[in-house]
Amino acid sequence: MRTYRIAVIPGDGIGNEVLPEGQKVLEASAGGRFRLDWQQFDWSCERFAKTGAMMPKDGLDQIRDFDAIYLGAVGFPGVPDHVSLWGLLIPIRRNFHQYINLRPVKLLKGVDSPLKSPGDIDFYVVRENNEGEYSNIGGRLYEGSEAELCMQQSIFSRRGCDRVMKYAFELAKTRKKHVTSATKSNGISHTMPYWDERFAAMTKQYPDVKADVYHIDILTAHFVRNPHWFDVVVGSNLFGDILSDLGPAVVGSIGIAPGANINPEKEYPSMFEPVHGSAPDIAGKGIANPIGQIWSGAMMLRHLGEEEAAQTIERAIETVLADGKSLTRDLGGKANTKELGDALASIVRETTHALA
Ligand code: NAD
Ligand code: IPM
Ligand code: MN
Repeated sequence: MRTYRIAVIPGDGIGNEVLPEGQKVLEASAGGRFRLDWQQFDWSCERFAKTGAMMPKDGLDQIRDFDAIYLGAVGFPGVPDHVSLWGLLIPIRRNFHQYINLRPVKLLKGVDSPLKSPGDIDFYVVRENNEGEYSNIGGRLYEGSEAELCMQQSIFSRRGCDRVMKYAFELAKTRKKHVTSATKSNGISHTMPYWDERFAAMTKQYPDVKADVYHIDILTAHFVRNPHWFDVVVGSNLFGDILSDLGPAVVGSIGIAPGANINPEKEYPSMFEPVHGSAPDIAGKGIANPIGQIWSGAMMLRHLGEEEAAQTIERAIETVLADGKSLTRDLGGKANTKELGDALASIVRETTHALA
């Protein structure tokens, strides 16, 4: 039987509450056809408080040979966010060349969109995940004086732009054949015109895919006014980050939004984590929605080649949402994290049993 070795990093806050629900549902989907060998890592802000580091010095080496990484959330009050994130999440994304951050946005039955007439919303945000506006190059000058200033470099490499755009076009070929690029080349005078240039070059290789470009400001407006327009939206690290919180807000709840940090070449493990963070405001109460974590787990199984199990989980999510009886508060229900996880695990177990 095929066994997958999974590095589990619950991280901070609700990461610790939703991740076990993900493991439970994924176990239920295995149904004796494959095995999941979980290894737990306590890397977190709590570890930082004790040791001064989010993960051990050889942390990346410890997880390098796993088949995948299943992560909850990183960051908690007490440790500055840039310290915790650059100490754990961002090094994993970069060192393992997880240059695609794939985040589906889909309006599902049973979930209320805040829009009056949302229409059919089903698209992907493909976010560049290794470079762009996220950098540690920069610094302060003239500290403490009136002339004090701070600078931060953005990096847009040809390889970095081309590979994320190519991924977006290839994905669109399997869907509605439409790619939208997020830019801001009217205000940002070097990197964004370069991004546009690379996008224009890529469109030539995909004559059958419709391509359009919007500046990020009006694009956010269209996400709200016309979310049904989109199929695949490709954006830089920062723009993709913003769009992948806005998309889920438009389809109901950040709590159900899944994400995958993918190394398409499979030279390194990919990492699967919900879009949301550690939610300090509700952490410890047991009321967080585990669906984002569970759906990210389905994306992990798909990446590992377990398509049937992935689909079983995704269908169970649709069933539970449409049924509406076991939903958490963010979706207007009364269930707690564990009750929603149990409801999903039991549907998945039944379906998996019936398939066997
Ligand atoms: P957040 O996503 O943690 O929370 C935003 C809001 O959404 C909060 O009101 C929260 O209660 C709610 N929410 C989030 N997930 C939910 C869920 N599963 N169920 C119900 N409600 C949910 O964003 P934030 O407050 O900006 O960030 C908190 C911390 O998490 C910060 O340290 C931030 O840097 C970090 N963060 C980490 C990741 C990650 O690990 N990938 C992502 C985003 C934020
Ligand atoms: C996300 C998060 C992270 C990001 C933060 C916590 C660094 O917001 O995964 O979307 O911006 O990539
Ligand atoms: Mn984000």
